Amino acid sequence: SAAEKGGYDYFMLKEIAEQPKAVADTLLGRIDAAGSLTLDELRISDAELREVDKVVIVACGTAFHAGLIAKYAIEHWTRIPCEVELASEFRYRDPILAARTLVVAISQSGETMDTLMALRHAREQGSKVLAICNTNGSTIPRESDAVLYTHAGPEIAVASTKAFLTQLVACYLVALYLGQVRGTKWGDEIHAVIRELAQIAGQVEQVLETMEPVRELARSLADRNTVLFLGRHVGYPVALEGALKLKELAYMHAEGFAAGELKHGPIALIEKGVPVVVVVPSPRGRSVLHDKIVSNIQEIRARGARTIVIAEVGDEAVVPYADHLIRVPATPTLLQPLVATVPLQVFACELATARGNEVDQPRNLAKSVTVE
Ligand code: G6P
Repeated sequence: SAAEKGGYDYFMLKEIAEQPKAVADTLLGRIDAAGSLTLDELRISDAELREVDKVVIVACGTAFHAGLIAKYAIEHWTRIPCEVELASEFRYRDPILAARTLVVAISQSGETMDTLMALRHAREQGSKVLAICNTNGSTIPRESDAVLYTHAGPEIAVASTKAFLTQLVACYLVALYLGQVRGTKWGDEIHAVIRELAQIAGQVEQVLETMEPVRELARSLADRNTVLFLGRHVGYPVALEGALKLKELAYMHAEGFAAGELKHGPIALIEKGVPVVVVVPSPRGRSVLHDKIVSNIQEIRARGARTIVIAEVGDEAVVPYADHLIRVPATPTLLQPLVATVPLQVFACELATARGNEVDQPRNLAKSVTVE
């Protein structure tokens, strides 16, 4: 009913708008007054976490993209090797698992069959499983050794939005907590990032307040067949997620690429007028990557692409090459997906509406895939 949708036309719009609260709720009570993380709720002791020598993340769909981003954070802040794998591939290839392997299963619903089977396989091999889940008491957290709940609230729209942002928050918490417990050379950075994370909901809100041009742009592209997405570092999984949203909702051909792979194939797809969304890393921090992406944008534009550039406020280097410029607030490099994904959700939702598609119930898709 209209009341359930809180005045929005679709659950998806409501859930996109709820993201600042979902993010804040997922952080609530997990950062103490001194700015350290307190995750006593994990039923894995700090001593056990210190022993972990490999992290393996398993998930499906949008949750898998959260896992891809988590890998960058975990390896950087903890120096523990981390693998990310589609749950549907994992248990069929005889993965190497041991008692000191921490398996992280990410699932909004907690009922995805492939993710559940992957965690059962991991536990049979003696590994500990930590679930990141949005649904209290669902099967995946019940069968795991530990659980970190996301507090997105119920997500009704089939395409995941607020659950994804909270999965990212939970992944950052796990990465930072592992770093905190184990003590790495990144201690100061970990503290600084925790402080920034505490502010991030406000930055998500800022993005939401500037989305009207993105909606206009989406409407203008309603008759296109293809949209390409490019990103690098944590922007690469963001590009994959942007493309997935467009497939799910707009039923368009959409593909995400790592920008560094451009010359190994994707550039052949560039022809006059093809819209290409580029997620640009901050010019601060890893500035080498920033400069490389700016030259990618130049290259594709010279070949006729219509460039849609998502870049941090104050990044002036992209301005000459952006046909459309979408600004996001400055964040630490690893946290950028929390702000950069939001315009892509809005873009896909508006394009779907412009094409007359059913936004909350896309054809052929289910909210939770409980069969193989
Ligand atoms: C389905 C949904 C996606 C979701 C995926 C994984 O494909 O349509 O939105 O990302 O399942 O679901 P889970 O509940 O395990 O996160």
